[in-house]
Parts: sequence; structure tokens; C-alpha cells
Amino acid sequence: MTTTPPRRGPRISRRAALGTLGVAGLGLWYLSRSGDTLLPAPPGQRIFTSPSTLTSENGQLELTLRAEGSQIPWRGGERFALTYNGTTPGPTIELRPGDRLVIHLENALDEVTNLHTHGLHVSPEGNSDNIFIGVKPGETFTYEYDIPSYHRSGLFWYHPHSHGTVAKQVAGGLAGAIVIRDSLDDLDVLTQSTERILILSDPPIGSDRGLLEVSGMSRMSGREGDAVLVNGVQLPTMQTNTGSLECWRIVNASSSRYYRLALQGHTLDLIGSDGGRMRNPRTVEEIMLAPGERVEALVTPGTSGTYQLQALDYDRGGMGGGMMGGQGGFGGFGGFGGFGGGNPIDVATMLVTGQPAPGTPAIPPSLAVAEDFVYEEPTSRRVLELGMGMGGGMMGGGSGMMSFTIDGKEFDGARTDTRPEFGVTEEWEIRNSSSMDHPLHLHVWPFLLADDPQAGWKDTVNVPARGSVRLIVPFVGLAGRTVYHCHILDHEDLGMMGTIEVAP
Ligand code: C2O
Ligand code: CU
Ligand code: CU
Repeated sequence: MTTTPPRRGPRISRRAALGTLGVAGLGLWYLSRSGDTLLPAPPGQRIFTSPSTLTSENGQLELTLRAEGSQIPWRGGERFALTYNGTTPGPTIELRPGDRLVIHLENALDEVTNLHTHGLHVSPEGNSDNIFIGVKPGETFTYEYDIPSYHRSGLFWYHPHSHGTVAKQVAGGLAGAIVIRDSLDDLDVLTQSTERILILSDPPIGSDRGLLEVSGMSRMSGREGDAVLVNGVQLPTMQTNTGSLECWRIVNASSSRYYRLALQGHTLDLIGSDGGRMRNPRTVEEIMLAPGERVEALVTPGTSGTYQLQALDYDRGGMGGGMMGGQGGFGGFGGFGGFGGGNPIDVATMLVTGQPAPGTPAIPPSLAVAEDFVYEEPTSRRVLELGMGMGGGMMGGGSGMMSFTIDGKEFDGARTDTRPEFGVTEEWEIRNSSSMDHPLHLHVWPFLLADDPQAGWKDTVNVPARGSVRLIVPFVGLAGRTVYHCHILDHEDLGMMGTIEVAP
């Protein structure tokens, strides 16, 4: 097993403490990577580019996505990645409410894959957003999605969802953005800004497909890769002018990595979360994005200069003392294999030039046409518990894998775990009894945070280690059977997923 030398810097980090413990015979604990072990960005400027875009016309968009392993350009050479139509990320899909989307998914991988439209409020049945479908190697499957006319505008994304291989396929590069536009996109503040899509990923970097296979320890922690990329490029430069406005739409498409984003010298004006636009922009110093989460933020570039968009240190916990068979036996350390304690990671560079011009568009205090978040009071209540357990017996010569459960159960696609009534608004309390954070994601039905409804519609929320979160979930609009799960995709693959059926 690997160990990492004690961290530099004055504070005793978990891993430094662990290094000491390792001497005491606990050397087998997996120590995860942090910013310190990422590949440094090479010198030279890489210009920021958005993924290519396919836009619907006359209410329709039909496209083919071919999933395959490819060698793609990397630092003057090549690296292995999983691609859609030869690129990672795949093309951005742009739609309007009421559109019909048809995707022919060609599987040129050597294993089963499928497609999920994360965050879209579309049917989970038939050949729509049905994650129970498996597309075998060499086969093509046609998905058809009807975007409801009342669908909110916002940033969504697509990725494979074939249970057991999701983390590997997404980490390998299979992901792309979906943008839904409506009249909110015609607001002056948006038409006058430079829109950019930033798909954050951290793939393993190397030349052969073997790099997609990681250790059991990596899977239990949630794999993190070798470099943080924006639209497949390491540390790209966004060139802009003083006096202009930027609109950044950011998706965390990493399978496990959390991003606590801050832009040097700037605040960010949040105008959208996972599931749509907010009425009142919120000025923030930083944005926390767990895997699967998205934001839309306005940036007002300051005086000329170079500013880094950075991912700050965040500790998402580790495999806790529970693994040792003694509850809280090492509670003083809060768990092993913890993340965080790393230096900030430079994610993208904003290069500002020019003089302040008169007539800089100002960000209005209220995006008047965006909705307020009104909701029905929940009439029924449900508790879900996210847990990590002994499973195969880490210390006992079993499989060595912990179990990852919801309500004490590992995923079983044949079992239906949760049956809300159609038309009813529920309150969900998500409890995390484990020593790691888990981002809970629910398909099809967006929710509000009970403690902060004005933060907007979301579909993924971080549930901190040993903490809990309350959600307001209106089961309206669409019926069907689908899933909710931890969006640390290795945890989903290991069983932290439940099924939900809303009967019409
Ligand atoms: Cu983004 Cu069920 O997933
Ligand atoms: Cu999803
Ligand atoms: Cu998890």
C-alpha cells in the first residue's frame, strides 16, 4: 500500500497523523491524492474553448453519440480517454422547452453502457431517460426525450449510468453538457455577457485503458484523477476585458472530486443552481460543487491582470473508524483516507485586459422574470440513511470492500425502495451516518433545500459526514420508476443507490 509523506506546513493533517499510525501497523490504509500529487500544468497558454454545440431546430434535435476508447491529443503526445464522437467532453446539446431530443447511442466500448440526462425533468420510462437499459458493445440504442413545455431553463448534463461501471466510464471521459434556453436567456445581463461552459473533470492520465481500473481502496474513497481539466484542457486561459461581463456555467463532471471554487480578486454572482435560474442573484466568495452539481455565475472582470479560478482545499472525509470494528475508535482523526489539506489547485486562468469602459452592464438585484421558489408544504415525510459498513470485512480477510448502502441496503434494481404518491410534496431528510460526505442525487424530480428554498431547484446535494439535509420534493409532472444515489460514482457502483417509483 502507498503512503504519503507528512504534509508540509504547520498543521498536523490527517495524513501526517496517519503516517505515524502507519508505523503502528495501520500502513494498509489508502491515502488519497490531493492537489499536491496532481500533474502540474505545463508552461504556455492554452486558450479556453467550449465544447462543440448541437442546437435544436423547429422543436427537434437528432444526433448520434458514439462512445468509444480513443487516443486524444495531450501535451504534444496522446492519452487514452473514453470519448463521445471522438471528444471528451462530448458535444453540448442545446434545447428549448417543448423540444424532442433523439439520440442514437452507439456503443463502441468493450462493455455495456447507456445514457442518462442528469437533471432533466423527462420521463424515466421506455426509451426516454431509462437508466435500467443496457446497451451492449457493438449495439446502437435510440433514446427519445420529450422536454416538457414547462421545463426550466438551465444547465444539465449527460453521462453513462450502467450500474457497476459508471465511475470508470465517467472518469474515463464520457460526459457532456445539456443547455435548456428560454426567455430568461434574453435578459440583457445574459445577452451582454460572454457565456462559457466549464465542464470540470479529473481523469486518470496515461496511454492505455488499464488506467480505468483502480484499486478497491480507490473505489471506496471515490477515485480522483491525475489532473483537473476544464472542457478536457488543463488550466485554460479565458481572455476578457475590463468592463465586460462573463457568464460561467459550471458542471462538476468528476466522478468523486469536490470543487470549492474561488476566483482571485473577484466575487461571483450566482444566478442559477442545478435545476434552473434564481430570481435574486447571490454574491458569493466561493462556490462549492460536489460531483453532479452545477451553477451559473456572473463574473465582472476587474482591473487588467491575471486571476486564477482555484479549487480550494476541501475535506470530504474518509473511511472512518467503523472499518476498524470499533465505532469511533479513531474518532479523533475523523476517519482515515481523508481528503483535503492540499494546496489550492489552479483550474482556469482569467486574463483581463483593457480599460474600464463606460456603460458596463450592471447585474440587476433581481432577475425579474425568474421565478420565486414557491412550493406546497410537504404532506408526507421520509427519512433516508446513507451508510458505510463493514461489508466483506476489511480486517477479516473477506472481499476487503466496505458496503455502501441506503437504509442499510445495497442497490437491487429489481426491488422498489421508495413509492411516493404522484402529485404529493414530500419532505426528505437525508441522514449520513458515515465518516465521508455523500452527494445525494435524485433523478427526474428536482427539489428545494428546506432550510434555503431560495437557493433554487436542485437535483444533487451534499450530505456532510455525520450530518443531514432536508429536502422538499414535489412529485409532480411526471411519473415512472428510476433511482436516487450517491454521486460519488464509485459509491453508486458499490451499491449506494435506491429505486423509486411514482405511479401515475
Ligand atoms: Cu448524474 Cu444518476 O446521475
Ligand atoms: Cu441524474
Ligand atoms: Cu458516497
